[in-house]
Amino acid sequence: MIQSAMPTVAVRPTIRLTNRVSAMQESPTLAVLNRATALIAQGVDVVDFGPGEPDFATPHSVAEAGKRAIDRGFTKYTNASGIKSLREAVAARYNKRYGTSLAVEHVITGCGGKQELFNLALALVHEDDEVIIPAPYWVSFPDQVAFAGGRPVFAQTRAEEQFRPTLASIEAVATERTRGVILNSPCNPTGAVIRESELARIVEWCVSRDAFLIFDETYELFVYDGNEHASAARWIEQYPETVILVNSMSKTFAMTGWRLGYAIAHPDIISALGKIQSHSTSNPSTIAQQAALEALTGGNEDAQRMHDAYCERRGWLVPALNDIPGFCCADPDGAFYVFPEVRAFFGKAGITDSQSFASYLLDEARVAVVPGGAFGADDFVRISYATSMERIREGVARMRAALGKL
Ligand SMILES: Cc1ncc(COP(=O)(O)O)c(C=O)c1O
Repeated sequence: MIQSAMPTVAVRPTIRLTNRVSAMQESPTLAVLNRATALIAQGVDVVDFGPGEPDFATPHSVAEAGKRAIDRGFTKYTNASGIKSLREAVAARYNKRYGTSLAVEHVITGCGGKQELFNLALALVHEDDEVIIPAPYWVSFPDQVAFAGGRPVFAQTRAEEQFRPTLASIEAVATERTRGVILNSPCNPTGAVIRESELARIVEWCVSRDAFLIFDETYELFVYDGNEHASAARWIEQYPETVILVNSMSKTFAMTGWRLGYAIAHPDIISALGKIQSHSTSNPSTIAQQAALEALTGGNEDAQRMHDAYCERRGWLVPALNDIPGFCCADPDGAFYVFPEVRAFFGKAGITDSQSFASYLLDEARVAVVPGGAFGADDFVRISYATSMERIREGVARMRAALGKL
């Protein structure tokens, strides 16, 4: 008889996930994308208003720089925080725009802005610290804070005020445990662009409370109708212990898949982020670093072309949505999203919330939108206009027909 070499184990081993990870939610925006993608893969014609990424190709010169990096063998480890020339290029770009004197030690580059935001939460948020985040918010902010052991606290913004964050709404939820504020302007999902005067007040308040201010300006170049992007960069040298900037190549240079973003902050914060990075991903891809260097040192023509296209789409989309009975869409100043209220449809055809509204549209109109519940605003949905004018017209026509039946 053949004896089994395997010992017999009485107790079945278990997988013991940490509370830290069990408390994390899978990005709900990805869940919608996944369902729409599955339908598209089956050959279903879905108008996809879900994506949070440009529908434009990475600019040719940028892609070529990435190819050149491969051809010349620039494919080995670099400094974990990124090559010096790229960090210098980031600093130079800000110095030119804001008259600052930032240098290499103020900049870290990583695998997307998301990595730097994650590292910042790990570096700055202590157990039970509260971090104030204006709502509606980008989905990763609260989970990153919670993962680091902190508590996200939401400051409500209002559709009537174009969802612009205000100091009053932040002060209303502040406590003695408040450790920081995360602002995102232009905002994903609302498109809100903060006014410089309000930003000034929030910066001063953070300084007076000894709270950090993380300012995520991932969509900085996409601001419309003559409005200006107000950046916290204006205060980074006056308040270097407070102001932290996060930015990304993803949206402005249509480089989402390259995974390259950066943070600008006090050198002590940058070296803390560098330490974390050196033990996690190490350097961002060398190929992406060379491509980003090309993008940052080249002109803004491609970004301007995208800006103009988004501006035209938004100009058509907002009135077209408001023309659908029941839709109520604010006219946001930036990013490539609109965030209409759809509460008027609740109570009809089994629609009870933003999730069931989005499911109804996917089933009945073959249109994918992202439920606002994912962003902390269940009466709303996010519609991305990072898709062609033709598809936008088609999607709106389908929504009008499907919602007209209710
Ligand atoms: C507000 C905001 N911040 C940061 C990011 C992260 O972008 P990435 O990691 O691609 O640089 C995103 C991406 O969707 C975003 O919308």
